[in-house]
This record gives sequence, C-alpha cells and structure tokens, in this order.
Amino acid sequence: MTTKININGDIQDEGFISILDHGFLFGDSIYEVVCTDEGKPYFLNEHLKRLYASASGISLEIPHDETWIKKQIQATLDSAGNDESYIRIIVTRGVGDLDIDPSSCSHPNIIIFVKNIPQISEESYAKGISVALVSIKRNSRDALNPAVKTGNYLNNVLARVEAQKMGAEDAIMVNPWGQLTEGTTSNLFFVKEGRLLTPEKGCGILSGITREKIILLANENGITLEEGKWPGEELFKADEVFLSGTVKKVMPVSVLDSRPVGDGKPGPITQKIMRLYSELLENLD
Ligand code: PDD
Repeated sequence: MTTKININGDIQDEGFISILDHGFLFGDSIYEVVCTDEGKPYFLNEHLKRLYASASGISLEIPHDETWIKKQIQATLDSAGNDESYIRIIVTRGVGDLDIDPSSCSHPNIIIFVKNIPQISEESYAKGISVALVSIKRNSRDALNPAVKTGNYLNNVLARVEAQKMGAEDAIMVNPWGQLTEGTTSNLFFVKEGRLLTPEKGCGILSGITREKIILLANENGITLEEGKWPGEELFKADEVFLSGTVKKVMPVSVLDSRPVGDGKPGPITQKIMRLYSELLENLD
C-alpha cells in the first residue's frame, strides 16, 4: 500500500511542486491515468499516445520521449511494490511568472504518481450506480476541447458537485447544444431496443481508451453499436446505461435522476460488455 511520486526522474515518498507552476495556478497541464493488471500497466501505448496528443493540443512540448516515460513508470512501480497500481502521469507547463502567459515557463514538470488501485465496491458493479443529468454543460470543443485531457477539470468538478446535490453519485453532461456527451471521468453508453449507443467524438468527449476497446468488443461480438448525437432526454428512454473508464472499467448505471433505468438492474448487454472487457484484461500478454 505504498505511494511513490516521481518528479522529473527523482522518486520520492511525497511530492512537492512550486506554487508558481502554471499547472497549479491555471490548470495548465495534461495527464493520463493508467492501471496495472498483474503488475503490468495495460494499454500503456494507447495512453502515452493520447498524452503526447494532449501535449500538442495545448502547445506543450514534453521534454522526454515515450521510452524515457516508460522507464520512469517502471522504476516508480518497482519502488512502490504494490500488487496492483494506479498510475497518474502529469505534465505541467512548469514554473513561470504569476501571469497566464506560458512563455515564462521553460521547464515542464513530469510527475508520475503511483499508488494502490482504489477499490470500487462489488455492490456498485452488481447493482449499478446512480447518476444525474446535470445542468452544467460539457465544455464545447472550440472552448476547451474535451478530447484534450488537461488538468483543468473544473467543468467536471462542478458537474459532480451538482450531481451530489441531487443525491447522485456521478453526473452526465450534455454539450451546449443539449446533446449527450459523457460522465465526469468516464464515457457514456446506453442501450435502446437492443442497440448499444454512445455519443460520437464530435459531441465533445474524451476519446476514452476503454470506450475504444468496448466499441471493438461490441463489433467483434455481434452487438450492434452506433456512435451518434442524441439529445439529453434520450437517456430517459434507455433500457440500460453504463459508464466506461480506466479506473471504473465498465460500471452499470441503475438510477438516472432518481428514476430506475430499465428494470433498475444491470441489463444483459451491460453484463455482456462487463464480461467481455474483463476477459480482455485477463487475456492480455
Ligand atoms: N478519466 N471522459 C473523461 C472526462 C475522463 O476523465 C475519462 C478518464 C474518460 C475515460 O477515459 P479512459 O477510458 O481512457 O480512462 C472519459 C480518468 C480515469 C481519470 O481522470 O481518473
């Protein structure tokens, strides 16, 4: 149960960053969350590809290559020695003037945070969680593109706060045009008339690694899958809803705005995707 923090190649028990780092001051940073299975980070290449894409999305140059980052991840995992780890890779703009202009920041900080994997209760997977369709809108793609995984999560924080005020565990957001997007740290899937539906990238979502895997699994296993644009109200007509993400994997949703989804239990397509996804993880080499 150890936490280790690697800052620019230096592994420590606690990590400290200057308050003049623009990551702290302005959320001027990017990050990835990766988990291990049997001690090995899975889908790491996909996560690192997205990390570099996010860097380019905020005009930030990461001062090391993927090989260096992989080596540092392994060294930090070895130092922590957990059975399974949660890995957060953060790249900040670095220390600069107390002004938003990033040109005063010449050294991005690369932080690799390793801790024990957070335990999600079996009950949540068995019964499903509650979500609320909140009034906070997901950022539009031409404001702060949700496809770029930045450290600026205030949009999602506000959505989560609203959901909690409504008595729900998580939030689903629509975009400024009222179309379904995603959860606060996960992608959204729902089932209608036997078809698996998920908002398309053009709605303004993070292109989740788990989402991509689920799309492949659905296509390979005869589940009709459609990416598209749907108004928020469409979710109330769903027979099944689930969320996907690296930490929660495939999480059924059984309550939407205090009303049961379908018959209030994880449905057959959700259960099938949960099984297929866990088999995919079990069979990784
Ligand atoms: N979140 N959408 C948002 C807004 C997210 O923050 C995440 C991931 C996802 C799912 O992406 P992936 O399947 O690649 O994990 C979708 C991570 C887990 C987090 O911030 O903790």
